[in-house]
Amino acid sequence: MIQRLIRLAMEARLNAYTPYSNFTVGAALLTTDGTVFTGCNVENAAFTPGNCAERTAVFKAVSEGYKEFEQIAIVGGKKGEQPKEYCSPCGVCRQVLVEFADPKTFQVIIAKSEEDYQVYRLEDLLPLSFGPESL
Ligand code: THU
Repeated sequence: MIQRLIRLAMEARLNAYTPYSNFTVGAALLTTDGTVFTGCNVENAAFTPGNCAERTAVFKAVSEGYKEFEQIAIVGGKKGEQPKEYCSPCGVCRQVLVEFADPKTFQVIIAKSEEDYQVYRLEDLLPLSFGPESL
């Protein structure tokens, strides 16, 4: 499944709209029933309205009625190049993931290729998080 998610993230990355950063990111989000939602980053001339690949995937899923997630694979790097580094999710995306995923079990896979990846628990990427349980 990890390899499949990475492959889908790589495919989604090809759709990234990044005229300002030339840094393309793809994400593939696995729901608890096995459905996968992909996303890419979508930039904007006014800069701040741009959206990360991870949030694109989460918002696509939630808007289709899915709110329970198990894993996300993320692949990012300079446009047209194989990633040289792992692309780690930004703080805003970590917070958005915490809203819908159990930080103790949800896995974040950051990949350079199908064979070269690292797996983290969301809790380790955003310790002491403020989530739905906090209210
Ligand atoms: N970006 C993502 O889509 N996901 C990440 O995990 C890191 C950053 C995007 C935002 C922006 O379009 C570009 O990468 C450069 O920051």
